[in-house]
Amino acid sequence: MNWDADRIPDQSGRTVVVTGANSGLGFEASRALAAADAHVVLACRSTDRGRDAASRVREETPDASLELLELDLADLASIRSFAERFERRHDDLDVLVNNAGIMAIPRRETEDGFEMQFGVNHLGHFALTGLLLDSVLAADDPRVVTVSSGVHTRGKMRFGDLHGEVEYDEWGAYAQSKLANLLFAYELQRRFEASDADALSVAAHPGYAATNLQGRAPEMQGSRLRGLLMNLANRLFAQSAEQGVLPTLYAATAPDVVGGAYYGPDGFMEMRGGPERVESSERSHDQDAARRLWEYSENATGVTYSLPVPTRA
Ligand SMILES: NC(=O)c1ccc[n+]([C@@H]2O[C@H](COP(=O)([O-])OP(=O)(O)OC[C@H]3O[C@@H](n4cnc5c(N)ncnc54)[C@H](OP(=O)(O)O)[C@@H]3O)[C@@H](O)[C@H]2O)c1
Repeated sequence: MNWDADRIPDQSGRTVVVTGANSGLGFEASRALAAADAHVVLACRSTDRGRDAASRVREETPDASLELLELDLADLASIRSFAERFERRHDDLDVLVNNAGIMAIPRRETEDGFEMQFGVNHLGHFALTGLLLDSVLAADDPRVVTVSSGVHTRGKMRFGDLHGEVEYDEWGAYAQSKLANLLFAYELQRRFEASDADALSVAAHPGYAATNLQGRAPEMQGSRLRGLLMNLANRLFAQSAEQGVLPTLYAATAPDVVGGAYYGPDGFMEMRGGPERVESSERSHDQDAARRLWEYSENATGVTYSLPVPTRA
């Protein structure tokens, strides 16, 4: 589809939270939404990197309405504190962009003992969305956009070993976390519908975009070779972050977006191109798995949603 950030409808009066706003796709989303006059809350784990991102946004949009709030998705206490600070300052939240992520890293744990990729990419966003739910439901036509990946197709929910304690595979853990993003996004839409809420839960993926994502694992492994290869692949095959963020921006703002839909690039193998509605794997539509993951996530994070459980379709 021939759609770019210039076609974002006027966002004045709307408040948007973008997780991972200081880098890659989160930065590009923040930049474009600020340029469309949204009030953008930059949710970043480092306030220094967040401040730097804010000044980069202001280079293009000097009067951008920005707010920096610290958020570490690898720490439930930080997520709770973020939600409390947000609620003190705002009556409602129009758009939540669950974007932050890490990919294929060596096994690490969050503050709460969750495997890092499952913990940050899924459980952290699950807790954040649940804690911000009242603010979301207080807005007019609110949206929750959750960023997944084409890699979700390789994901399996290993309910017996969600945290890779028995067996850990760095790509398997990433794929599982990105499948969990979709199971969550679709289940949230079903729960919005079951409560007659005027809210949309939508998923998106960027294809392959050159960002800092690909460099993290080589950095943690101290592998210069893997780092160089990732860099080379980015140069040869990736699209820009500015292009890669378009499905997220479309999902967050386009008037014809459908709740429970998934948006990605329309080009070769969904790796690049303009945003369009795309399909996700059969496993991502497994409603039993979605419900099981939901219950697990509520127990693990201690965050419960005040939304009715949908009847099975
Ligand atoms: N780039 C691609 O080709 C691609 C493809 C498919 C899906 N995605 C998805 O796109 C999303 C954005 O990734 P990106 O490509 O823009 O990567 P990126 O440039 O590495 O940005 C990731 C962002 O997430 C933040 N983050 C990491 N751990 C965090 C934590 N514990 N708490 C809060 N924030 C944290 C990072 O903060 P720091 O800067 O402080 O580390 C950074 O701001 C991810 O969900 C990723 O899975 C990307």
